[in-house]
Amino acid sequence: MAFQDNGDRDKVLAQTDIVRLVMDFVSLKPQGREFVGLCPFHNDKSPSMRVSPEKQIYKCFACGAGGTAFDFVMNHESMTFIEALKYLAERGGVELTPWKPSGGGDWKGAARDSGTPSERKRVAGANAQANSFFRMLLGHETHGAEARAYLERRGVSAEMIETFELGYAPEGWDGLAKTIASKGWPLDDHVLAQVVKPRKQGDGHFDFLRHRLVFPILDGMGRPIAFGGRQLREEDDPKYLNSPETALFNKSATLYGLHAAKRPIMASRTAVIVEGYTDVIACHQAGATNVVAALGTALTAEHVRELRKYCDHVILVMDGDSAGQKAADRAVEVFLTGELDISMAVLPEGQDPDDLLSEGGLEAWETVLAQAADALDFAYNRASQRMDAQETLTGSQRAAEAFLNQVVDLGLTRTGQLRRAMIVRKLSTLLKIGESDVDKILRERSTRSSRSVAHSPSETQVSADYGEPWGPDSEPLGSVDESENYVHLSVADPGSGSKLKAVLIAERRFIAGLVRYNGLFATTLDDGRGLDEAIAASDFVEPNLGRLYQRIYDALAEGRGLTLASLLSDLAAEGEKQLSRLLTSAEFELPSEEPAPDAADSCESSPSPSGIHVMPPALIQETWTAAFRAMIARQQEHQYEQTRRALRSGSEDGNPAATDPVILAQKIAEHRRNNPSPGRIPRLRR
Ligand code: UTP
Ligand code: MN
Repeated sequence: MAFQDNGDRDKVLAQTDIVRLVMDFVSLKPQGREFVGLCPFHNDKSPSMRVSPEKQIYKCFACGAGGTAFDFVMNHESMTFIEALKYLAERGGVELTPWKPSGGGDWKGAARDSGTPSERKRVAGANAQANSFFRMLLGHETHGAEARAYLERRGVSAEMIETFELGYAPEGWDGLAKTIASKGWPLDDHVLAQVVKPRKQGDGHFDFLRHRLVFPILDGMGRPIAFGGRQLREEDDPKYLNSPETALFNKSATLYGLHAAKRPIMASRTAVIVEGYTDVIACHQAGATNVVAALGTALTAEHVRELRKYCDHVILVMDGDSAGQKAADRAVEVFLTGELDISMAVLPEGQDPDDLLSEGGLEAWETVLAQAADALDFAYNRASQRMDAQETLTGSQRAAEAFLNQVVDLGLTRTGQLRRAMIVRKLSTLLKIGESDVDKILRERSTRSSRSVAHSPSETQVSADYGEPWGPDSEPLGSVDESENYVHLSVADPGSGSKLKAVLIAERRFIAGLVRYNGLFATTLDDGRGLDEAIAASDFVEPNLGRLYQRIYDALAEGRGLTLASLLSDLAAEGEKQLSRLLTSAEFELPSEEPAPDAADSCESSPSPSGIHVMPPALIQETWTAAFRAMIARQQEHQYEQTRRALRSGSEDGNPAATDPVILAQKIAEHRRNNPSPGRIPRLRR
């Protein structure tokens, strides 16, 4: 039994456009009747995720992630169903009716939500409270005066203070600790968030930040996940104190300013990365809003993964005096893998973005960006400067060799074909060596270094639970065929493999059709059997599709209608991730309806009283019927095989009849009558 739905769930879904929702996190491009983009649930190299405005679902054809708006935020933001419901309700302006779990059919997400809140949630709550405390203090007439004066001296506008939610951590050791006590905030959660720490000696707690300007580190959605505090007095070393990592804060995956920069980054398809908190704020204040900062680290793989959701080009802006080798190496590495195009811009000696912008304005900033060199050029320039001997022939030869070694070491072996060809051409120009020579040298060095072993996905076997064997982080089992919209499995025996594949697709279509057009449930076979008699949950080759069928069967046999959205929300609420992924894949196996001239009338605005589409248009009816037939055919073949096997073992006992086709056919019919397929669903009265 699913949870007690009071209608909120559907209201929330109705107010949520999945395309807009996904676009808050991922950049999408229209393609036909759908939108496509890089899947945020695995390290996607080409856009594998489709979002259907018509079906209001998303689906990744590489990793299998998929579902409704609920699934998207639950998975993307690690929310429970109830959290997702609240989040989407707020986003869509839906007022939720107060509810209480009722006996038996309660909201399964609710127990998890109110019983043992996750660590992440507790840290998030504490951070939000601490953040409100710091902000309140910055505004405080006396306590906040010094910090406000500092911001004014640095020319930080009121708007930026608001956007970046700047605050002030007061003098003394227990300003926050006392407030936590007086307001009755959960102290344990604040300790977990590390904003206060227990005293080593004696009781009580002390504040993590004292007399510092507070830069909350907000996540992509603007929620505080950690804090940075800047000294206001020279003697208060270090210059910045940052929160330690918590359940919510992974320093190397975080980009400061992302909440404000996300949309501009998508719009310009370029992200600019600067070095510090104040750099980000100065840029945004001046109008350069596609700017974020890494938190004192070189670009990490996690940063790249995050940024790839929004753009394809990254410009690293480095202070002239701190253009570090490590940052440059990392940039080349990322550049080589082709995950992102990276270029490097260097600020005039002794200037940071703040200085540059206050002196030369946005124009000076854009000039610096326009002069950015791509990572490979940049690395080459540095390498040749280091060699400092290009004048002589051996000098330049050594420089070239060293550089080629570096390129190989940084991961050329992992570069795709096209990208490699492009890089070879580029190196040929840079080093003034013929392309074929560059290619040869690189090959030699690659085999010598052979750092990485390529894995071959073609060796993968079919897994018994074909449904969704891939977690968000694992490599897909097969390759995605764009033209056919299904995942090819590589199998040892291509004959049985393609047959198996056909059956699996038929099962998916069968399920998808029933969900979309409940009326199909009344279909009867030529022999007069009803669909419900002909197909049992245990008949499915894919057991999870069988489980889905059982649920659909229960709902339809009891006369409850169901829709894709209602079924997916039930599954989301019950944490049935596998089933909802499977159902979304199935949905994409059924063709879309051609929008008939009067489609809006017949399908959208006047469905049956329960809001359910009854019968499909001809094309879908045909596809579905073929799928149903394929399932029946397979079932019969399977039973025939079983019978033959049973009879053959009988013939070994000296039964000659087993070879007579007429007797065999009779035996099979008899066997079928006596052995209805196991696990048959009991027929319900209607
Ligand atoms: P900077 O020293 O350049 O600081 O360090 P800044 O952000 O430009 O600040 P202002 O302009 O001097 O006020 C760059 C970044 O390195 C990290 C911070 O993230 C900082 O924004 N950092 C620096 C620390 O984490 N701790 C430190 O002690 C110093
Ligand atoms: Mn600075």
